[in-house]
Amino acid sequence: MSQDEIHKPVLLKEVLYYLNLKKGDTVFDGTLGGAGHTVEIIKAVAPTGRVIGVDLHSQAISTAASKLKEFSSMVTLVNDNFANIKEILRRLNIKSVNGILLDLGLSSYLIEKSGKGFSYIRDEKLDMRFSNSGIKAYDVVNEYSQESLEEIFFKYGEEKWAGRIAERIVNYRKSKDIETTGELVEIIKSAIPYKFKNYRKGHPAKRIFQAIRIEVNKELDNLKKAIEDGFEVLKSGGRMVVISYHSLEDRMVKNEFLQFEGICTCPPDLPVCKCGRVKRATVITRKAVKPEPGEIEANPRSKSARMRVLEKL
Ligand SMILES: C[S@@+](CC[C@H](N)C(=O)[O-])C[C@H]1O[C@@H](n2cnc3c(N)ncnc32)[C@H](O)[C@@H]1O
Repeated sequence: MSQDEIHKPVLLKEVLYYLNLKKGDTVFDGTLGGAGHTVEIIKAVAPTGRVIGVDLHSQAISTAASKLKEFSSMVTLVNDNFANIKEILRRLNIKSVNGILLDLGLSSYLIEKSGKGFSYIRDEKLDMRFSNSGIKAYDVVNEYSQESLEEIFFKYGEEKWAGRIAERIVNYRKSKDIETTGELVEIIKSAIPYKFKNYRKGHPAKRIFQAIRIEVNKELDNLKKAIEDGFEVLKSGGRMVVISYHSLEDRMVKNEFLQFEGICTCPPDLPVCKCGRVKRATVITRKAVKPEPGEIEANPRSKSARMRVLEKL
């Protein structure tokens, strides 16, 4: 089963509405996945437009190549990190784009079929990398110090029991390495006090898996760089659309976008502005756009999606 057979694009009609594309536009889709958004974006800019589809996961590129075969003259597929947006466009001789889409997080393919240990309900090797290079989840849980694990779990997972879980991990690995997601889930469960287990939202391992994934893929660093560098290569009147799936990402998108709006941060009693912030964009979505109940029913994975949109002046 390939990416596009199992992944339903999230907030599809909203993405198209907010990208506000015209025939002939050039769009950077930084998260190709199953190419669900990409195919509709191509149709919106066809026949003279161009779409650059990027993904770190090589399987996404091959799936997209066959799915988008009929549009091959309009699409360029790149197996790279969206954080490298400026370099990718420079290599392609593209100075600026009319639209940027980042649909963060995991495709259904990555969760269900990649075998990379993204899911806490499957027993797989601890990997969690979107690409095939860099440190794996295995390295994080077996090599990081207790203090570093606690910090990551707290910072990237907002996990209340970060300290206890880090301690259990370090004790467990004294006798053997932690090799699989199944082993890790059992360690996490054993660290959460019994009376709290039933009151937690979602799976007990959800926050720790999120934290490790963010660390392995440097997700927040990549997101910040993609927004900042993406803004530089966005045309005037162009739009950046970002869909995030947890509060850390959404907070980062919101704050980054606000900086471009140039809201003055000087104390109100200062007669002249000293912070020097300049308005360079308008945030189109005052509040994050969420999926409608019908979409959540048809695609429960869309439930946590939050979309924010910025237009460059
Ligand atoms: C939620 S999926 C995108 C789904 C896609 N919009 C669709 O409708 O089919 C996110 C994709 O982004 C990719 N990805 C995550 N971080 C990335 C990064 N820093 N650079 C490039 N691709 C990334 C993942 O490999 C995954 O395929």
